[in-house]
Amino acid sequence: MPRDIVGTASRRALTEIFRKQILIVSIVIEPSAIEIRAIDRIEELRNVEALQKDVWGCADLDVVPLTLLLASHEVGGVLIGAYDESQLIGFVYGFPGYEQGRVTHHSHMLAVKPGYRNHNVGYKLKLAQRAAVRAQGINRITWTFDPLQSLNAHFNFAKLGVVADAYKINFYGEATSSFLHQFGTDRLWVTWNIASRRVRERLTAKTGIPVPDLKQTPCLVDIDADQAPRKNESNLFGGRPYLSIAIPADINSLQNRQPHLASSWREATRWAFTKTMALGYVVEDFYRLAGNGQTVGVYLLTYRKHTHDSAP
Ligand SMILES: CC(C)(COP(=O)(O)OP(=O)(O)OC[C@H]1O[C@@H](n2cnc3c(N)ncnc32)[C@H](O)[C@@H]1OP(=O)(O)O)[C@@H](O)C(=O)NCCC(=O)NCCS
Repeated sequence: MPRDIVGTASRRALTEIFRKQILIVSIVIEPSAIEIRAIDRIEELRNVEALQKDVWGCADLDVVPLTLLLASHEVGGVLIGAYDESQLIGFVYGFPGYEQGRVTHHSHMLAVKPGYRNHNVGYKLKLAQRAAVRAQGINRITWTFDPLQSLNAHFNFAKLGVVADAYKINFYGEATSSFLHQFGTDRLWVTWNIASRRVRERLTAKTGIPVPDLKQTPCLVDIDADQAPRKNESNLFGGRPYLSIAIPADINSLQNRQPHLASSWREATRWAFTKTMALGYVVEDFYRLAGNGQTVGVYLLTYRKHTHDSAP
């Protein structure tokens, strides 16, 4: 059973610690003790509202309220929680939609309480969401995420097997009340083809995905020794089958220490993603690499005609 050894530290203090990216919380977790199940009782829905505030630190106005959770549930919305005994420590929420002429499920939120992260709780919530959506006869789940967040990129591409072919500039406006939305809200629009071979293979892989040799892959945005982005505009031309875009390992701490650098990363990656997608590239994978004394994340983009995943 998970046991918070911080003991009496208040929830507010924990949120503040997380925000500063100096997470010193140590929690003993037995992942098997976490129960994943549908949330449908009104009292439990109140906890979903509260957890949104914990995870995103957002104002009341930015919280998806109980009334909307309930209404969307009646028309196919899926809301699944992760419980440590009776305590809600994570959830995933989405609703049916219609995109490019097809029925889809749009996953609006996925959250795991800070002290419970990196124990596959988020992964198990997505697996449960996939099963629930497939049971409705839908084979496609979409969502958005900030492409500068290395954790989310690894989670979405490497663990789940999404692909992305659209980039939305300031999707939620220039900022929201969340501390995660303070340097623009650009988003990659990802598609999880939940019945495809690519996704089945990703989910059943015993070890992580192999990292290809990226030395021959032209890089559009690279990282230099002092963590600044370096654009290589000439690599956009020449009809290359593959391109790459690097990001820092931890944009949140960079944002805290050197906000101007975080903004430079936003500008450089926005340029790279919008240009490549306009040319017909899709983002197919993401790798965490170590080199030159630092860790970086690297997106691999493939020219569309080479894409092996066009499955529904
Ligand atoms: C995204 C989130 C739900 C993931 O939950 P989780 O329970 O920690 O997820 P998992 O444990 O299944 O997977 C996390 C993975 O990220 C990896 N990771 C952690 N820090 C990382 C970093 N800086 N860069 C890259 N990967 C990182 C972990 O190693 C793990 O991968 P692995 O299993 O291959 O080792 C959680 O971090 C969260 O609530 N974040 C804030 C809200 C959010 O961003 N929601 C999603 C967008 S709406």
